Amino acid sequence: MFNAAVPADEQPRAPDSLTGWFEPLYAAADGDPGHLPWAHDGLHPGVRRWLESGPDDDLLHGAGRPAAAVGTGLGDDAAALAQRGWDVTAFDVSPSAIAAAQERHPGAAVRWQVADLFALPDRWRRAFAFVLEVFTVQSLPPDVRRRTVAAIADLVAPGGTALVVAALRPPGPPTAGPPWPLTEDELDLFRDEGGLTAGRRLQGASMRGFAMAVVEYHRSR
Ligand SMILES: C[S@@+](CC[C@H](N)C(=O)[O-])C[C@H]1O[C@@H](n2cnc3c(N)ncnc32)[C@H](O)[C@@H]1O
Repeated sequence: MFNAAVPADEQPRAPDSLTGWFEPLYAAADGDPGHLPWAHDGLHPGVRRWLESGPDDDLLHGAGRPAAAVGTGLGDDAAALAQRGWDVTAFDVSPSAIAAAQERHPGAAVRWQVADLFALPDRWRRAFAFVLEVFTVQSLPPDVRRRTVAAIADLVAPGGTALVVAALRPPGPPTAGPPWPLTEDELDLFRDEGGLTAGRRLQGASMRGFAMAVVEYHRSR
């Protein structure tokens, strides 16, 4: 995920703690997406592609139902969900990310929260009719894949949907990250660990040389 626009000392590097390296990166970026290797000024291409792909009307219009945006970063995708009528809770482990998201989207009807996916409030369990996950799983190392995916899936309410956007890699030993793109088997953890069923999947999506999975997962009622 090297980004030529980002100075070498601000590129992501092998973390010395699981999540502690995000905060200094966001603090240094000071809300500028050009200084974050993963950020886009606007919707993530995977989310844009999904919106243009003709999802169910039920997913396009939140009608006041609760949605969660996981690892929301600068919050552009979360704000777009709120514009579509979702009652959005957007969280990130980095306080500077959340501060920047709030500043970028002052009028958005979003509850911006500093929260760690691995220590979420109990009341969030299976509480959201829509869960948006974009590139958080791959930002954490493969040895915590199972619990990362399980924690995200656990947010999905009965009858709810998770939209997962993730870079994919071929099977075999993981390359040095971050990021650590997912194998197909790891993507299947949303089913095997998370208890969700795969639904629509966009074919042929790619970004910066990676195949990109854009998949809806559903929890039965
Ligand atoms: C690759 S970035 C993607 C950010 C955003 N979704 C986007 O597409 O621009 C991964 C994000 O996940 C957040 N994150 C990583 N681990 C987390 C955790 N355990 N709990 C909450 N957020 C986390 C990071 O701070 C970062 O904002």
